[in-house]
Amino acid sequence: MNSEPNKKVFIKTYGCQMNVYDSERMNDVLGSLGYDAVDGPENADLVILNTCHIREKAAEKVYSEIGRLRQLKQERLVEGKQAIIAVAGCVAQAEGEEIVRRAPAVDLVFGPQTYHRLPQLIEAVVAGDKKIIETDFPAEDKFNDLEQKNSVKLLARGVSAFLTVQEGCDKFCAFCVVPFTRGAEFSRPVEQIAAEARALADAGVREITLLGQNVNAYLGLDANNRQYSLGRLLEHLAEIDGIERLRFTTSHPRDMDDELIAALTDNKKVMPYLHLPVQAGSDKTLKAMNRQHTARHYIDLIAKIRKSQPNLALSGDFIVGFPGESEQDFEETLALVREVTYAQAYSFKYSVRPGTKAAEMAGQVPEEVKSERLARLQELLNEQQLQFNQACLGQQFDLLLERPGRQDGQLVGRSPYLQSVFIDANGHKIGEIVRVCVDNVGPHSLSAHIV
Ligand code: 5AD
Ligand code: SF4
Repeated sequence: MNSEPNKKVFIKTYGCQMNVYDSERMNDVLGSLGYDAVDGPENADLVILNTCHIREKAAEKVYSEIGRLRQLKQERLVEGKQAIIAVAGCVAQAEGEEIVRRAPAVDLVFGPQTYHRLPQLIEAVVAGDKKIIETDFPAEDKFNDLEQKNSVKLLARGVSAFLTVQEGCDKFCAFCVVPFTRGAEFSRPVEQIAAEARALADAGVREITLLGQNVNAYLGLDANNRQYSLGRLLEHLAEIDGIERLRFTTSHPRDMDDELIAALTDNKKVMPYLHLPVQAGSDKTLKAMNRQHTARHYIDLIAKIRKSQPNLALSGDFIVGFPGESEQDFEETLALVREVTYAQAYSFKYSVRPGTKAAEMAGQVPEEVKSERLARLQELLNEQQLQFNQACLGQQFDLLLERPGRQDGQLVGRSPYLQSVFIDANGHKIGEIVRVCVDNVGPHSLSAHIV
């Protein structure tokens, strides 16, 4: 028996839900290597920065974080202890060797497609004093590898969990780094996903959000080599006992098929919530963005989905100030938002990502203009969000209780439309689904009582 105490790992996660999922899986792999997860870098033997490259100055933020960690590393060295610093995720993929050149304190750089190789990578770092850079897109299936290593030994993760079903993107929107950092589209096999979903259900999970950069482009095979669309996958997962709610994100307008619309409409476990980014409302801008759809196509698509599922809560992403965007183009985005109406949405100022098509485009929009447009767009989106919430006043729906509220005896859950809803617990517990009636609404949350 090895009587050495377990080592400690701290993973700092930046960015999207897929990174949150990836960090959990890294913790699983490292757990089987004898690392306990801790929630700060101070006493960690291994620190992993799981980075995101979507937002502006992402790389700069990572470098300043490494600067702080270097201090800790030196203090530990004085005490005769090692501290490995690793950079993972999309910044690791995009920057590669540049990271150890600029920040020699970093021992290990690995991309999103290689975290199943963590045991070998860590071993190589511990054994030698070489820097290890691993940014390939390996041919083997990392999910399969992970599954075998852990035999789906999932930690309980509360009542709502993420599950990656698809990764990568072949769409190449002109502004986006994802096709470069996450690679080509890949769909996990149906049975692998179902096994993970059953393990989550056994661990107490009631709601699963299926993740993919292009989740509705999902096309996976079952054991008999039959192809499943996302709609069919949702139907399949809905049959798992214990899983009461299913969500999925992020979808692309081009891949919204009838099977998915049917699942959204007819399957009681599939929540009536859809994150379907349009990015802009001017066809000129959409073409320059290489979005592969027009504003009309999007508007008609939403009308078709709502005809089928009138309760839909629609969410989206917007970029203002894409190169060449005129005031007229921007007003077409506002017009689209007014016509479509959103329950909530994310909006960003365009910012350059080196290596993407848009980075080279003429007509970059001045910062002040972007800020002014963003403020106008957000004002409109906030108004619509409040209106959507106000329309919920007096409505009854099922609430999945997820966590304690700020006040004693209070619990917070999610509505089918993903709003946070506060209630008095009255003896009910986290993980239960309760019927509530909404009696108060604000811009960002609702409160309700159990009926
Ligand atoms: N600039 C601004 N926003 C971006 N997004 C992606 N790349 C950029 C960029 N270069 C936004 C898009 C996408 C969301 C995840 O981030 O709206 O849908
Ligand atoms: Fe990026 Fe476009 Fe792919 Fe979404 S669809 S991940 S925005 S390239």
